[in-house]
Amino acid sequence: MKSSKTSVSPLKPVLLDQKFWKNFAANYWEKKPLALKNVKSGLLEMSAAEIFDLLVLYSDRCRKLNDPEGFKFYIDGFKADADDVLQVLPVKSDKSLLGYHARMEAEFSDYCLVCDELLKVNLKKQHLLTDFTDELYHHVGFPNRFSEMGLYLGNYRKTPFGVHVDSCGVFSFPVAGTKTFRLWTPEFAEKHPDLDRAFKYDKYKKDSLVLEARPGDMTYWPSNAWHIAESDGSFSATWSLGVWVDQPHKNMFSDSLKDLLDSKLAKDALKPTTSFKTLHNKSGEVTELPSAYRDSMAVLQNLSALQLQEAFLKSWMKHISLQGFKTIPKVDLKITPKLNIKLRNNRALILWQQSLTDKKVFYFSFGGVLVESKSRGLLKLVTALNAGKTCLVGQFLKGLTAKKDLALLQKLVDAGSCS
Ligand SMILES: [Fe+2]
Repeated sequence: MKSSKTSVSPLKPVLLDQKFWKNFAANYWEKKPLALKNVKSGLLEMSAAEIFDLLVLYSDRCRKLNDPEGFKFYIDGFKADADDVLQVLPVKSDKSLLGYHARMEAEFSDYCLVCDELLKVNLKKQHLLTDFTDELYHHVGFPNRFSEMGLYLGNYRKTPFGVHVDSCGVFSFPVAGTKTFRLWTPEFAEKHPDLDRAFKYDKYKKDSLVLEARPGDMTYWPSNAWHIAESDGSFSATWSLGVWVDQPHKNMFSDSLKDLLDSKLAKDALKPTTSFKTLHNKSGEVTELPSAYRDSMAVLQNLSALQLQEAFLKSWMKHISLQGFKTIPKVDLKITPKLNIKLRNNRALILWQQSLTDKKVFYFSFGGVLVESKSRGLLKLVTALNAGKTCLVGQFLKGLTAKKDLALLQKLVDAGSCS
């Protein structure tokens, strides 16, 4: 990469349509950086005022719980303690992002506030994020780990941890101010190890690529790009969507297999020592497996193809029910038979499947929660909800199993499925 500023003509708005995503998946995803001006995306429709309100809402929650989890605050590049973070969060009387900035700037010449998963507090706006990620996943694949959305704001001159590389591809959407990112290729960073965590890198500037973005723009860099954010000390606020790409399929597969084996192996498999007859013969040759291994192997060999398929289907369903995020917003709703409920988001369905090994059993999943039931009533309720209907709980969950079904439904609702 040569030092240059990339930009596309500002005259024409860029639509994130199927053509865009096809081109993105083929030519940019995990390949090379991209800077787009004037992008049409729901994510960019959220105003600075709305984001300020979200920040205050989230901050109020942190103050109430006396726990700043989800926020990080850096002063001159140093991370502040949790107790101190609570003192510097936005308050309603700041009135706006710029009002908050004015209060902070008076105290700190270099600060950075990071809020992860801010959209958690606003369920109505969450779809702006999922509309974007749904299209992305459709074209590049569902992340085996997850995506994370964070808001970065402040007047910090450089990313608090210097030049670095993450295991995620990053999309950035400035909300206020101008954001500048400087990138280096992995090949260049490998040849110049002193770039790692560097704050002084003037001699390497000519070998970097600069992405500059303002509100309405979008930038992307792949997971192997070394990067740092730069600013002249003026205020900026930026959404950053990190899509983690550090979990290969083989890890997902072996994790699912491990869960299956954990559930099938006998109690003996918990023993911390292994009984044996002989470790080896006189010549050192090892010829015999202890009985614990033979027993566990028999469990593995006795798994049917259907059992295996079902185990992997269940863990895949649980994974995709998180919609590609680490967590999804929870809902506080006490389920009773007299309650009318509907899906919180008509595109975030409660996933279900029928057991392959027991025709009476169904599995239901939302937000990484998986429950098992034999109730046809619960299945009818879930499919009606998924069809977009508002449902009276008691009309579906009745009879002897109603109490148990209500408890299972409560778990799915707690995970955020209904409102
Ligand atoms: Fe980063």
